[in-house]
Amino acid sequence: MEILLETNNLTIEYKNINKADKDSIRAVDNVSLKIIKGEIYALAGESGCGKSTLAKAVTKLVLPKSGDILFEGKSIYSHSRNEKKEYPKKVQMVFQNPYSSLNPKMKIYDILKEPLDINTKLKKPEKDELIEEVLAETGLQTDCLSLYPHEFSGGQRQRIAIARALILNPELLIADEPVSALDASIQAQIINLLKSLKYKRDLTILFISHDMNVIKYLADRVGIMYYGSLIEENYTGTIFRFPKEEYTKKLLSSVPVLK
Ligand SMILES: Nc1ncnc2c1ncn2[C@@H]1O[C@H](COP(=O)(O)OP(=O)(O)OP(=O)(O)O)[C@@H](O)[C@H]1O
Ligand SMILES: [Mg+2]
Repeated sequence: MEILLETNNLTIEYKNINKADKDSIRAVDNVSLKIIKGEIYALAGESGCGKSTLAKAVTKLVLPKSGDILFEGKSIYSHSRNEKKEYPKKVQMVFQNPYSSLNPKMKIYDILKEPLDINTKLKKPEKDELIEEVLAETGLQTDCLSLYPHEFSGGQRQRIAIARALILNPELLIADEPVSALDASIQAQIINLLKSLKYKRDLTILFISHDMNVIKYLADRVGIMYYGSLIEENYTGTIFRFPKEEYTKKLLSSVPVLK
């Protein structure tokens, strides 16, 4: 069992813009968790509990006040110059809204090629080959390459966002509410796609969602966050059958039962 990502006593605070209140908001409070290579780990909890902030810390978009994040056993804050360059390729992110996360002025071909242009020295035919590979893997046709994002449905756009995230062959994919903006039937397709990628690529996924139904179907393990703290964590089946915390029970009781 190889641990890919580990947070140790991670605490993240934001400056509070509303001065009438206290100076800072503690968005993540002393969170320690481990994500095992090849698993889908879901972070659940209601709006504002700190899920996205934790993801942002992993992608180095925010700095913690205290604590540490280890990736492949090494603190991401003590990276060498070369590791600093490699790390962003290993951790890729897919966001909730596929309408705003893709540049509307770029054709799909350029959207997929851009990460390769920035991060690799590959030649055009090699880049084209990788682009074709991720297209096939995410269920897109090659004729979509000459089109712009607005010519696609929400579900297809999310496939494009996933293809772009995969093009650099990351170790960890962070998907922050990737299906919340989609219709139920499209949600299922994207969830199945993520599940298949886990097996085909041995991809590790940090899946952020407040939808316990989706989590039940997709995740191997679940962590429940409440006001910045990780209050409970277990295998998905166990958490659904034997939730310990009252808050977890409440979250689960709001899940409609699907046959
Ligand atoms: N840039 C920021 N500046 C100040 N406060 C912030 C900032 N980003 C988030 N917060 C606050 O930090 C807390 C955690 O926010 P975060 O976005 O991580 O929650 P979340 O669990 O992802 O919520 P949601 O389910 O709505 O996406 C909230 O109280 C939020 O208002
Ligand atoms: Mg969020």
